[in-house]
Amino acid sequence: MRLPEASPSWQDFQATSSSSRPAPRIENAVAPGRIARTGLRVLIVDDEPDVLRSLGNTLAHDGFEVTCVSTLQHGIAALRAKAFDLVLTDLYLGESDLGSQVAEAAREVRPSPPVVVLTGRPTFDGAQAALRSHVADMVVKPIDTTQLLATCRRVVQEAELSRRNRELESINRVLASVLPRTIEIKDPTTSGHAARVVGYTDKLAQRCGVSDEDRASLRLASLMHDVGKIGIPDSILTKPGPLTADEREVINRHPQMGYDVLEDLTDHENVRLWVYQHHERWDGRGYPNGLAGEEVALPGRILVLAEVYDALAEQRSYKPAWPIAKIVALFREQAGSHFDPDLAHLVADGLEQQGSSFFASEPGMLF
Ligand SMILES: [Fe+2]
Repeated sequence: MRLPEASPSWQDFQATSSSSRPAPRIENAVAPGRIARTGLRVLIVDDEPDVLRSLGNTLAHDGFEVTCVSTLQHGIAALRAKAFDLVLTDLYLGESDLGSQVAEAAREVRPSPPVVVLTGRPTFDGAQAALRSHVADMVVKPIDTTQLLATCRRVVQEAELSRRNRELESINRVLASVLPRTIEIKDPTTSGHAARVVGYTDKLAQRCGVSDEDRASLRLASLMHDVGKIGIPDSILTKPGPLTADEREVINRHPQMGYDVLEDLTDHENVRLWVYQHHERWDGRGYPNGLAGEEVALPGRILVLAEVYDALAEQRSYKPAWPIAKIVALFREQAGSHFDPDLAHLVADGLEQQGSSFFASEPGMLF
């Protein structure tokens, strides 16, 4: 396909630069009335005036808001002056400058636009330089406008998806840490409990061959397992002495409350389920439902055991940390009653052989 003839009017655009040098003049090509189709701002850098004009017209006709410049210096100034959704740059800009330098400048600004490199001389060195600069794609001249526009739209879409994913991951991390911390502020005796249980359950799940998907759900369930305590009155949750039967009954509602708090985790039903079941026992004498044996799935049984291990291994205001030998004895004694017998003996064996390092996990690798 041939590039269309130039149709939009060209204006001078005075860029504002953060450097002390005088701001260069930047040409701006905009097709009035077409911008609303995308509203996407594209910077085009090419040292060949005819190519620059044709590319500007093509993208402007497709609804992009176009800024055209012909040198590396002007490209960098434009990036610093204005936010762009996409950068198209020639690979070779004059005698000594490279499009990869434009790409490097694009990576330094925020938000960082994706860069597509154009070249009439595809070489191995040029491709390597482009790859090193993390360009999103490369288009070879003579340019097929259909392919160019498809590439531009795909690259912009991928960059947007990637940005949204980073945002969601960031929000998830914040939310996943806020809820357990809220509980730990309410009950400081359990400080760090949820985060440690995440490490213990993940280590055990890995040893037991739990799938990656279930391991991810189990990590989240471990982090959230006591979130229902948010609904327990402080006077009961932090009571220094023994609880009455009525108070115990109130405490025992926290798995149900956790299940309710996590109601919106509609895509993570297992997370809610294992939070709900984390006080069940192998012999059916746990709560809230008295489920027995494999009625609680393996990841849920792992959480039951890991949660108790942390409670025993850590010092609390009402008790010292238990020595490993005492924990091993308890796990062996309660294998088949409180705990899944295979799991209990696996952990007891591991603790006997390796001590607390049996549960060691790599910090920062869990989320
Ligand atoms: Fe609990």
